[in-house]
Amino acid sequence: MTAGVAGTPAWAVALLRDARVGRLATADAAGHPLAVPVCYAFDGARVYSAVDAKPKSTRNLRRLRNIAANPYVSLVVDVWDEDWSRLCWVMVEGRAEVLTTGPEFTGAIDRLVEKYPQYRQLRLDRQQGAVVAVTPERVLAWRPPPQRPVGIRIEPAGPEQAEVVLQAMRRGFEQYRGSLNPPSSALDETVEDVRAAMARGGAFIASDGDAVVGSARYQLRPGHVYAERVAVDPGARGRGVGAALMREIEEAGRAAGYAEIRIGVRASLPGNLRFYEGLGYRTLASGPHPRGPDYDMTLSKDLRTSIL
Ligand SMILES: CC(C)(COP(=O)(O)OP(=O)(O)OC[C@H]1O[C@@H](n2cnc3c(N)ncnc32)[C@H](O)[C@@H]1OP(=O)(O)O)[C@@H](O)C(=O)NCCC(=O)NCCS
Repeated sequence: MTAGVAGTPAWAVALLRDARVGRLATADAAGHPLAVPVCYAFDGARVYSAVDAKPKSTRNLRRLRNIAANPYVSLVVDVWDEDWSRLCWVMVEGRAEVLTTGPEFTGAIDRLVEKYPQYRQLRLDRQQGAVVAVTPERVLAWRPPPQRPVGIRIEPAGPEQAEVVLQAMRRGFEQYRGSLNPPSSALDETVEDVRAAMARGGAFIASDGDAVVGSARYQLRPGHVYAERVAVDPGARGRGVGAALMREIEEAGRAAGYAEIRIGVRASLPGNLRFYEGLGYRTLASGPHPRGPDYDMTLSKDLRTSIL
């Protein structure tokens, strides 16, 4: 289970922050559900929605009674479009608490007034009323996977294709010859090395017509899938081939029952960091490179909560 919003893809965190309306579901002690539209503010840790004090029945509102009886709630924020390639949603499962006084209560009111000019006119009250504060315990997010780049085929590679995987990798990594310190070990790999690495997981080959334009490998390690040697021919870059190779590896990991995927990136190659961040990866750890002056960064992505 993902605690809080850690591991949630950046687009989903942005949607949760910026969307204007969410649907909050509560349930009473007997489990009878209630879903209501809410205006809310998200401060990066908790989601706040207000119950105005004006109607006399405020304190007795059904959602507040439900939360008092059963703190487990769910909030969904979604984007609807007749073009289904634009659909997306974020679902927060967590525990709710009702605040009526104190700095967190007034801070939440201020946030809500800042986000919704309408609350200024309604004069959302800092003295009375109630705020529902939701602490996320799990965040699920979905949006359709991007279309595969036009004309590109991605296929799993068997051991007999180790040479093809190796040659594609060499073309992709050739640019690092003489320019990385310490040098990239990718350029020293033999076909036996590649075959042995593929035996610990697998590999994919990207083709454009008859031409191989990229390859990537992965290992199934205890607790996570490790992607490596993701390589696209210089002439085929910027068309989504690298992203498509990563998606195939992620799918292979999910299919094998894995919840996490990792990859190592050098700190001296910030473009690669941006490539993986764009695919929903986040830095898990970093440390000095064992062979020289660079730093190694380990990036990670939760395969259960994100389909990018
Ligand atoms: C890294 C690499 C695999 C990317 O392949 P690619 O096919 O060009 O990547 P894509 O076209 O799928 O790019 C996907 C996204 O990442 C972005 N991206 C890719 N490379 C980037 C870079 N160097 N800097 C910033 N963004 C980059 C793209 O702009 C694209 O963004 P978008 O979805 O917003 O359009 C390729 O540049 C490569 O083979 N590099 C040499 C080998 C290497 O370093 N591999 C990684 C080892 S960790």
